[in-house]
Amino acid sequence: DDIVTRMKNIELIELGRHRIKPWYFAPYPQEMVNLDCIYICEFCLKYRKSRKCLERHLVKCNLRHPPGNEIYRKDNVSFFEIDGRKNKVYAQNLCLLAKLFLDHKTLYYDTDPFLFYQRVPHSWIFLQRKESTEDYNVACILTMPPYQRKGYGKLLIEFSYELSKFEGKTGSPEKPLSDLGLLSYRSYWAQTILEILLSMKPVGENEKPQITINEICELTSIKKEDVISTLQNLNLINYYKGQYIITLSKEIIQSHQKAMETRKIRIDPKCLHWTPKD
Ligand code: COA
Ligand code: NA
Repeated sequence: DDIVTRMKNIELIELGRHRIKPWYFAPYPQEMVNLDCIYICEFCLKYRKSRKCLERHLVKCNLRHPPGNEIYRKDNVSFFEIDGRKNKVYAQNLCLLAKLFLDHKTLYYDTDPFLFYQRVPHSWIFLQRKESTEDYNVACILTMPPYQRKGYGKLLIEFSYELSKFEGKTGSPEKPLSDLGLLSYRSYWAQTILEILLSMKPVGENEKPQITINEICELTSIKKEDVISTLQNLNLINYYKGQYIITLSKEIIQSHQKAMETRKIRIDPKCLHWTPKD
């Protein structure tokens, strides 16, 4: 059974102007599998067997953005909060679509207790978030393949930490992370922590700036373990005369500054209009 459910069952999808090859199995209904291509409505995410069927659907479909509240908007980036309970069909179709690019069980089909955040136009990225769980602030993130490696993954991650800051909590993504998920998080954590360290001012003359791990957690909402592992991965922590100190080399600073130049799209917390649910 396990082997059967793992086999990729959808050859190709057409979504808006994109044709995309799925990466993994997704539990679409039996009549949808083994077709040359399935046609997905880029607005409501319903699936059809042929382009003709989709065209008929598009005449009736009047969704032009994800259902739910727009809780963030700046320039051409906006996020919608979708309640899995109120928009069951949409949330299920979103999960089906996402599963095509997710290997493991990180995705939940039981959409009830989840909130989804999607960016428009065209819903190409999304974030799944459980309501009121312990320390997890993200269940899953996805950037559709044609949009990957343009910084949207990090935008989603940044957005999720802004929500955590708003709640006054630290958070961490649910494990296990995929390889690409881990790469994205490591990169986000490193950049965020270096940004904090480089912005620190010395407390007095001849004094080095000081900061504790807990202060980094508070400023970023990144969970303590993740802050520590990031500092270790970057090889920044040294033990000197009975104290832990963080040393930033010229190389680290230069490569950080270079990387930040490519970080064009950022979240502006002032543009978040959100009330946490509990
Ligand atoms: N190869 C190597 N590095 C990659 C990579 C790839 N194919 N894709 C992303 N990365 C790394 C890069 O280091 C990048 O950071 P950099 O700026 O330091 O180079 C970092 O990840 C983030 O890239 P970004 O463009 O912001 O992310 P993305 O929009 O491509 O989205 C995921 C990242 C994980 C959301 C995307 O790969 C995805 O949707 N994967 C399928 C679903 C999944 O695995 N989700 C995570 C688990 S829930
Ligand atoms: Na991934």
